[in-house]
Amino acid sequence: MIPARYQASRFPGKLMQDLAGKSVILRTYEAAVNTELFQEVYVVTDSKIIFDEIESNGGKAIMSIKEHDCGSDRIAEAVENMDVDIVVNVQGDEPFTDRESLQKVLSVFDGADADRIDLASLMAEIDDWKEINDPNTVKVVVDKNNFALYFSRSPIPYPRDKNVDLQYYKHKGIYAFRKQAILDFYRLPMGALEAAEKIECIRYLEYGKNIKLAISNTEGVEIDTPEDLVLANKMLRAKTSENTVNNKFRNFPMVPKVVFGEGCFDQLPSILAENRKDNAPFIFLVDDVFEKNQEFIERVKLRFNDKLIFVATEEEPKTSQVDEFVQIIKNEFTKIPSGIIGIGGGTVMDLAKAVSIMLTNKGSAADYQGWDLVKEKAVYHVGIPTISGTGAEVSRTTVLTGPERKLGINSDFTPFNQVILDPELTQGVPKNQWFYTGMDCFIHCVESLNGTFLNAFSQSYGEKAYDLCMEIFLHNSLSEKDARGKLMMASWHGGMSIAYSQVGVAHAMSYGLGYVLGTKHGIGNCIVFQYLDEFYPKDVTLFREMVAKHQIEIPQGVCKNLSESQMDTMINVALDMVPLWENALGEDWRKTITREKLRDLYSKM
Ligand SMILES: [Fe+2]
Repeated sequence: MIPARYQASRFPGKLMQDLAGKSVILRTYEAAVNTELFQEVYVVTDSKIIFDEIESNGGKAIMSIKEHDCGSDRIAEAVENMDVDIVVNVQGDEPFTDRESLQKVLSVFDGADADRIDLASLMAEIDDWKEINDPNTVKVVVDKNNFALYFSRSPIPYPRDKNVDLQYYKHKGIYAFRKQAILDFYRLPMGALEAAEKIECIRYLEYGKNIKLAISNTEGVEIDTPEDLVLANKMLRAKTSENTVNNKFRNFPMVPKVVFGEGCFDQLPSILAENRKDNAPFIFLVDDVFEKNQEFIERVKLRFNDKLIFVATEEEPKTSQVDEFVQIIKNEFTKIPSGIIGIGGGTVMDLAKAVSIMLTNKGSAADYQGWDLVKEKAVYHVGIPTISGTGAEVSRTTVLTGPERKLGINSDFTPFNQVILDPELTQGVPKNQWFYTGMDCFIHCVESLNGTFLNAFSQSYGEKAYDLCMEIFLHNSLSEKDARGKLMMASWHGGMSIAYSQVGVAHAMSYGLGYVLGTKHGIGNCIVFQYLDEFYPKDVTLFREMVAKHQIEIPQGVCKNLSESQMDTMINVALDMVPLWENALGEDWRKTITREKLRDLYSKM
């Protein structure tokens, strides 16, 4: 129930003010509905304007019949004839009402003492003496079980002894009532304490009711003044841009340990020995090109119950594949493994990262595709690339094709705990694959260096990787051995460059190809990149030179036989990559990138 009065003494008509394109009351209503915690959400109002605002936007509103002094009375009248157990009072001027707070206030009724509770409410910790002393902030003191003892505008308790370890709490205006409690409130006359303090919920205490408080420290914004509205508008803009663009200042985790050098792979057993937990196994996910390479497998030096799983990598990694591996491991071992070791190309790197996450997080890998959805720390995981270019060895993501989308599990727990960079392992990679994967790195640099998100951090890595790519793929001045080592470092730097910015047009479109046709990432990038003169003219020319120099044949006509619905899906997947487009073309990217434009480009491929 959202009580909503049109007149407000401090800020008349505030609930109908514009908040980023919608009225305050509509935003509050939608926020409450979006928590999905309630069977029904109503606005209860004395105002025809507010009533119409909610109803005309498809919401539910109730007109109060009588005049009321306060929100609780308004709600009491509305619920009197409704069949309800618990009524939650959400303030009309709190458009940022969040699910977490409401869930906390409701969870109080799941506790062992639920029978004793007449109503529940929230409190937040406060430490600032100015706020503690401010009569506009209502303070609350509670007993050992968090039942309210008293509410006051005075600082309670009074801190006569400044050395007592004491936490002050402010009361937040969210209530969950048992129906009877709110009806009682309506019938009981106001007492002297309530009248003096002008705090509604004191009435319950005066009549011996039990109010249980839960702690919620999330900061809400109440719209009490025009200044609050300006602030709320700002907050909302910041919130939407958080969803569309990467946070401007990201606190980015880096791979904490790395060894580099020809032959350093043999250090693996001693590195693992330090990280082995009791008798828990290490699980090795290894690209199946090594399946017949007995000499290589022996260098892994499996111990005890370690398990080696060969991974087919013809296709891009899938969430279903991750779930399968996790199931295999859980079926065989009761203990959580000591760690996951990925040995292979980008696909194996991504699978190893995802499996290590899913061993400690419930559900399917598909549940975690997106930004910062992972809750539990992953098990220890080690990345050992055997082909260079994807940057997967340093990235904070693991790109997976799921049932609905192709998207990374991007989280602080994704990056490897240890990476082993041994250029020797990249010997013997087929030439095409070497080229396509190397071009992934080149394109990372181009997209990062030409993007609007560029900054000195990504530039410093991007420029170095770009120069290395030119040396390796165009100037032809290196020995094979040097080229291997340098490409490995180009991949690393290219990955670091996009970690602090973003990729662009080629990647967005390549994801579309990958999703619909299963095109591998590196080759998909190359198929797309040759047609991107308009966006990256100088580098597309250089790219063509590299293709010619290494006599690579890039597949043509891959989109020739697409059905209408396949083309639509491809366009949808590409358009969904909002941060990539924003990086490539700025906030107004939609002016350039239309469905027709993408159809046009794809049709050429
Ligand atoms: Fe890439």
